[in-house]
Amino acid sequence: MRQRSWAEPWKIKVVEPIRMTTRAERERHIRDAGFNTFLIKSEDVYIDLLTDSGTSAMSDRQWAGMMMGDEAYAGSRNYYNLEKAVRQYYGYEELIPTHQGRGAEHLLSKLMIKPGDHVPGNMYFTTTRLHQELAGATFHDVIIDEAHDPASTHPFKGDIDLKKLDALVQEVGADRVPYVCLAVTVNLAGGQPVSMANIKAVSEYCHARGIKVMLDATRAVENAWFVQQREQGMRDRTVAEILKMMCDYTDGATMSGKKDSLVNIGGWLGLRDPKLAALAQNLVVVYEGLHTYGGLAGRDLEAMAIGIGESVEEEYIRSRIGQVYYLGEALMEAGVPIVQPIGGHAVFLDAAAMLPHIPRDQFPAQALAAALYVESGVRAMERGAVSAGRDAKTGENRYPKLELVRLTIPRRVYTQAHMDVVIESVVALFEDRDKVHGLTFTYEPEYLRFFQAKFEPVGSKRVLDSAAEAADEDRRFALSE
Ligand code: F0G
Repeated sequence: MRQRSWAEPWKIKVVEPIRMTTRAERERHIRDAGFNTFLIKSEDVYIDLLTDSGTSAMSDRQWAGMMMGDEAYAGSRNYYNLEKAVRQYYGYEELIPTHQGRGAEHLLSKLMIKPGDHVPGNMYFTTTRLHQELAGATFHDVIIDEAHDPASTHPFKGDIDLKKLDALVQEVGADRVPYVCLAVTVNLAGGQPVSMANIKAVSEYCHARGIKVMLDATRAVENAWFVQQREQGMRDRTVAEILKMMCDYTDGATMSGKKDSLVNIGGWLGLRDPKLAALAQNLVVVYEGLHTYGGLAGRDLEAMAIGIGESVEEEYIRSRIGQVYYLGEALMEAGVPIVQPIGGHAVFLDAAAMLPHIPRDQFPAQALAAALYVESGVRAMERGAVSAGRDAKTGENRYPKLELVRLTIPRRVYTQAHMDVVIESVVALFEDRDKVHGLTFTYEPEYLRFFQAKFEPVGSKRVLDSAAEAADEDRRFALSE
């Protein structure tokens, strides 16, 4: 039998119009935004690949669930539905809802970290590390070296290097390491998974020394899919079984429901230890809201409870990551340098490789994201030196090995035709890459600077020169050529 292509296991019931702008408009918008794609208005974006966070399309079942919101201050039935879903799929007995992932990170950091502690993790995530630092810890990256090499095709580039972990524990002492922060998948490494074998080994190492393992479960379902596909002996297990297995090795998790769980807002802290949970339930009242709503409406809790069940459906997750692969493989075929292997939630352009004429202190990835917007109306995000911020002690810019632009795919939102336009746009920019200018700061906020920083091009008024000016813009969108 001839094999058929796969397709998304859903059809579209509601549509939201989007509009292509002219190049002249986009040049104005990017200048007004200080060459930072976070500061562009959404209505001025054609295809929005800024993030997969809170940008999912909800299902009819989730929308129906929204109508069943029990908006009681205390003890809403939706809280108990979410608790049931988290227990069933992630296995954490104790659930503390939060408005989003960083709310849970804040609580966990405050509860577990004492000033002077050390928190190892498999690469950093911006908000996670900041909360650890604000609580007085020093963060240590203990990911395997391959993760820092965009060309390495290691199947589990998110793995923790146990030798690096052990060296740190030996140096500072296990009593100064409250927990290991284990992210699955690893966002800033390129959406790279962690193997089950590694999770098990980390868990055994830590638990033998009284160190807890806290999962960043934000994209754990996507990690489970990679384990199913790539790890020996895992092919016959369901994604749901693998997810549960991963969590079983850990003591708790912070979760941004805005990714895997297919909702626009929401998160939670999951724990096993009832004593720690009681402390967290007390603390959540201070920062988020009562422990049965954690800053969310009852309807938001319900949408997340339903979304969790949908997120582990095999057909769904296959099409979700299939779409990311569709984009990544086409870019690779066109010779565009991207992080390999292709990750779970995004395709990451290797800006350092693409723009060797721009020095690191002129932020090639920031420039590339701005230029892509000017070229095509596609909005992406910098994940390089601007995101990495400054060293907490020296105040110097951090220059991570990876200087990337993330094309992040929202879940259930865009079609294959949208992906084709993105491919054409990136390839066109790749051909014009020598016309991209570097950037310098004009405004740099103190915390998480990438969100609100502003820039100007170095030695030019524009981030992307164009001889053709606003030339025959429509040509690329013609039906036939
Ligand atoms: N952990 C990871 C791995 C994340 O990717 C994020 C958010 C968070 C924690 C924080 O969760 O946003 O709900 O507070 N990542 C978004 C992104 C912002 O675009 O990658 P949050």
